[in-house]
Amino acid sequence: MTELRVLMNGVTGRMGHHQHLVRSVLAIRADGGVRLEDGTRVQLVPILAGRNENKLRALAAEHDIAEWTTDPLAVLDECDLYFDAQLTSARQAALTAAIDAGKPVFTEKPVAETLDAATDLAQRAKAKGIVNGVVHDKLYLLGLRKLRTVLDSGFFGRILSVRGEFGYWVFEGDLREAQRPSWNYRTEDGGGITLDMFAHWSYVLEGLFGTVESVTAKAITHIPRRWDEHGDAYSATADDAAYAIFELAGDIVAQFNSSWCVRVDRDELFQIQVDGTHGSAVAGLRGCRVQPRVLTPRPVWNPDIPDPLDHAQYWNEVPETEDEINGFRAQWEEFVRDLVAGRPHRFDLTSGARGVALAELGLRSSATGTRMAVPAP
Ligand SMILES: NC(=O)c1ccc[n+]([C@@H]2O[C@H](COP(=O)([O-])OP(=O)(O)OC[C@H]3O[C@@H](n4cnc5c(N)ncnc54)[C@H](O)[C@@H]3O)[C@@H](O)[C@H]2O)c1
Repeated sequence: MTELRVLMNGVTGRMGHHQHLVRSVLAIRADGGVRLEDGTRVQLVPILAGRNENKLRALAAEHDIAEWTTDPLAVLDECDLYFDAQLTSARQAALTAAIDAGKPVFTEKPVAETLDAATDLAQRAKAKGIVNGVVHDKLYLLGLRKLRTVLDSGFFGRILSVRGEFGYWVFEGDLREAQRPSWNYRTEDGGGITLDMFAHWSYVLEGLFGTVESVTAKAITHIPRRWDEHGDAYSATADDAAYAIFELAGDIVAQFNSSWCVRVDRDELFQIQVDGTHGSAVAGLRGCRVQPRVLTPRPVWNPDIPDPLDHAQYWNEVPETEDEINGFRAQWEEFVRDLVAGRPHRFDLTSGARGVALAELGLRSSATGTRMAVPAP
């Protein structure tokens, strides 16, 4: 195979356009395709798909792409891979059609709005024996890749706790234009930060620290009224912040705040701190710094004087050791190599379904005020 025809649905959206079309598929194309283990290359041929003919025609012209369609499911036969970056509520039907047609699938997360739907997709894919993958981009971030190296070195000793801070202020849309689509704030359209972000935290925790055994969460709609893309006011029915404690195997306690109603006072929009008996680390989108046991200063509580310790000076940056590559592109390349080799991709629909399960359990925990056990994977 020298060419892989990729039917890309939802390419006019934020993620579909910027991360998947421009920074992944077109960037790979410009570099001559994905390099396989044997040194040969497979070139990607995108077929753009969406609902709006004018937008698709313009996008195709802008990027010199020959093929586009407003009826992707009618041309499934003409592709080697179906990719989905539509809004979440449209995904299940499209993925089901692609899988039933025997096509390999690669998709944005969350894979579906409910665990039942996500499980059904994973089972269908298994029954058809198709290669399938779900975007797990956070694990491919430069900062989290550095954290992975720190973990693999045994630096932490025994890991005690993990703290994740994700979020920033998303404008309501009246004073300033909102920087996220309005469907994100409507439950009836598949929105909600719990569904959105727990789908990430599931694979981040599992991939770095181990099995998630329970979740206790508080999901809330802090801002109930927002203004949409047309400037019209609407009721924000979905949760816009979620505060959670995840208990992991080995007595690791992970606490994650996810919020679109928080003003940033940290280095990066997502930051994760890991504390272990022998050292700690703070990782983000790009950076990762560490503080080993022997460099740990000895704070003494005394609010009567300014803190004599300059805490920042006791942390060291983990240096760059690999070429910088967009995280989405890195996973695309890995997925394509797996697809061509006919082997399973490590982040599949079953992993995606675990993300939806964690979100569902988080919402149930919030609604009932209880700690929810997460079934063993
Ligand atoms: N991996 C990540 O970090 C990440 C980040 C943001 C969003 N996402 C996921 O990517 C997907 C797309 O999110 P986005 O922020 O790009 O959204 P968006 O609103 O910018 O794009 C949505 C796309 O879906 C299409 N669509 C199909 N049916 C639609 C309908 N009935 N109403 C509105 N749009 C419809 C739109 O045309 C558009 O191309 C979501 O599932 C979201 O959860 C992932």
